[in-house]
Amino acid sequence: MQSLNLSWLEAAGIEAAILRLDLLDPLLSGNKWFKLKGHLRVAEAGGSPGLISVGGAHSNHLHALAAAGQRFGFSTVGLLRGEPQDTATVADLQAMGMQVHWLGYGEYRQRYQAAFWQPWLERYPGYHPVPEGGGGLPGTEGCAAIAEMIEAQLEGLGWDDYQQLWLAVGSGTTLVGLQLALPAGPELIGALAVPARYGVGEQIEAQLQQAQCERRQFRLLEACGAGFGRFDQALLDFMQDCEAQSGMYFEPVYSAKLLLALQQQAAGGYLAAGSRVVLLHGGGLQGRRSLLAR
Ligand SMILES: Cc1ncc(COP(=O)(O)O)c(C=O)c1O
Repeated sequence: MQSLNLSWLEAAGIEAAILRLDLLDPLLSGNKWFKLKGHLRVAEAGGSPGLISVGGAHSNHLHALAAAGQRFGFSTVGLLRGEPQDTATVADLQAMGMQVHWLGYGEYRQRYQAAFWQPWLERYPGYHPVPEGGGGLPGTEGCAAIAEMIEAQLEGLGWDDYQQLWLAVGSGTTLVGLQLALPAGPELIGALAVPARYGVGEQIEAQLQQAQCERRQFRLLEACGAGFGRFDQALLDFMQDCEAQSGMYFEPVYSAKLLLALQQQAAGGYLAAGSRVVLLHGGGLQGRRSLLAR
């Protein structure tokens, strides 16, 4: 965890620290390892030949899954949204040995239906299906460890407490894991990188119930701006300014939107001067390449 020094935080009198999950590993970085490790264990325990999952043409989740498969000796299959596209991410997936299939948009929309997996599991018998984004119980339970990392590193910052923990939300898996394990005290704030109408609130609720978690001590803020995976020049300018000031890289789909949501709350006076906040850097820097080249 490192101090995050940005002029707009300083102007609002807010002290911030960021958990640099982006630095964990060159390929299995960010929250991905926490979400995938339980799925890998389930696959190993069940003698699965491989893992199969769903995502987009820039998916950080599929990128990490392909890397994990290559590293730990599992085959991987990626079911991609939409029509075939050449992106740097897709090239990496294939180079790491992932078998890629394009779903079109219609079939992709069925991904939360139980029947979605059936034909794919007939084609890839015994494969362990991983929900999009690495969710489900193995994913949420794995993310609980992030809360322990934060607790263990507070002392190094000279902090004995903090008021809010901010993270970007896609599938909600990481937020649910933190809700399971965060000690009482800090407020959990999820900046939605996807429009609320995609049903992320319902997915969070379903994952909390699956984990038999009764706590509901979190708040979701709209942060998706131009839409999921969409961004404008103003967001890129803001991101690049934050990068220049902090000396770390962000990406426009999750972390830049997280920072912008925090900046807006700070500028709007919704955070008391003297507050301490922790942010999660969720990694995802592989996606930055082709997104910025657009
Ligand atoms: C860089 C990055 N940050 C945040 C998230 C959101 O995590 P979750 O899907 O657990 O809500 C993702 C999605 O995996 C991501 O790739």
